[in-house]
Amino acid sequence: MTVHGSLDPRSAFTDLDRRLFGGFVEHLGRHIYDGIFEPGHPTAGADGFRRDVIDLVAELGVSTIRYPGGNFVSGYRWEDGIGPRAERPRRLDLAWQSTETNEIGLHEFADWLRLVGSDLMLAVNLGTRGTQEAIDLLEYANADADTQWTRQRVANGRAEPFGVTMWCLGNEMDGPWQIGHRNADDYGKLASRTAKAMRMLDPDIELVVCGSSGSGMPTFGSWERTVLEHTFDDVDFISCHSYYQEHGGDAQEFLASGVDMARFIESVTSIADAVAATKKSDKRIMISFDEWNVWYLHNEEGGQNDKPAESGWPVAPRLLEDQYSALDAVVFGDLMITLLQHADRVRSASLAQLVNVIAPIMTEPGGPAWRQTTFFPFAITSRLAGERVLRVPIDAGTIPSTRFGSVPAVNAVATADAEGMSLFVVNRSVSDAASVRIDVSAFVREHGRDPRIAESHLLHEDDIYAANTLAEPERVGVRPLSDAVVSGGVLELPLAAVSWAAVRLV
Ligand code: AHR
Repeated sequence: MTVHGSLDPRSAFTDLDRRLFGGFVEHLGRHIYDGIFEPGHPTAGADGFRRDVIDLVAELGVSTIRYPGGNFVSGYRWEDGIGPRAERPRRLDLAWQSTETNEIGLHEFADWLRLVGSDLMLAVNLGTRGTQEAIDLLEYANADADTQWTRQRVANGRAEPFGVTMWCLGNEMDGPWQIGHRNADDYGKLASRTAKAMRMLDPDIELVVCGSSGSGMPTFGSWERTVLEHTFDDVDFISCHSYYQEHGGDAQEFLASGVDMARFIESVTSIADAVAATKKSDKRIMISFDEWNVWYLHNEEGGQNDKPAESGWPVAPRLLEDQYSALDAVVFGDLMITLLQHADRVRSASLAQLVNVIAPIMTEPGGPAWRQTTFFPFAITSRLAGERVLRVPIDAGTIPSTRFGSVPAVNAVATADAEGMSLFVVNRSVSDAASVRIDVSAFVREHGRDPRIAESHLLHEDDIYAANTLAEPERVGVRPLSDAVVSGGVLELPLAAVSWAAVRLV
């Protein structure tokens, strides 16, 4: 198929908040223990953190990292993770049926973030706990005063406040699986009370209230409306969570996942703006898409792959260790394109998760760390994305989707900055290659010359199920789009079926 589009560096619809390239680290499976923290590993420093993992997380280019959960946070006592390690309690983690040793807590995680170059985003427990414990944590982390909590913080080695800006008011409180699950009214009231108290302590924080844990939840829509009716004046963001997977070997349907994410974002934005209208307010609630990824949560029997295989409350069991294919990475790249296409309202997003647990980075105890296929679209998009986001109108054919109707076969977005533009594009068709022709004459008019391709990357495998594994860690990667050319104000990109690409134009 031949596909036409256009790219105009002056047509930005929004600036880009780099928090869109955030991540998520939960105390879950081998994420922390045996993932980022493995004392005794050949690359570990005196702090026990694996340097090979730090290097990969830094290369991934993750801005803000949400911590410590996830479902875990709804049973977590943050005080367990501070003070001398030897005195920290071991606890049952009900969410993941594991034992939490608490060797890593707020201080160690903040130290690790400094090493990877990312900022901290904290979630408070509104499952088993409430307003008091949330403001205790905020006081401990952010207060610049002389109190019992700040004295403890200083005694634990941190004289300066942590200065955490973004705070999540619980996690997925709409989900029946969540410890302390509540209905929208009860949660909305608790979130409002907690947010007000937190702001009295630190007016500069930004607060995220829980939206639905997926657009398929039975309460989706009414949950957002009720929760925002209670919290509209108290919060800055509402969260969206969404995970995608291929069902029943239907790759074409799976490749349409970006459309679902787009509709989810647009629905939540509309509900937030409708609540604003009823309150006669011009305030705009932003979206924190703080969990998104491909996740093979449901096995073909309809069960969930999220409990340890072994009984007896293991420490750091192998959980949610999905192996990603080239197909998964193409869908993943399209999800990133979709987030960028909504960057005026999605001002923060967190890839769930980072290491070993539905992750772009895998590790073996005592052994290597490697990049999964999804590593590439994230790292390249984060590195190449400029300050302003541009729409890329595309005139493409459509592909059929049972769930979403006819879906554009090619999807694209771009960014611009002082030096040039970056284009991100996906071919969602399982069968048809696309000859993509992008009109860049606006660039030619501004600069008096065609743009030059400074770099290009193609993610495509003839075997769409090819993956990187411990045995073959570099099976899938990206290669330059050697057939891409710019001439006479037109960028031409041949895109194989099921492929994702990025092109840097200067
Ligand atoms: O990311 C894995 C889990 O998915 C998180 O703990 C939870 O918030 C979501 O259901």
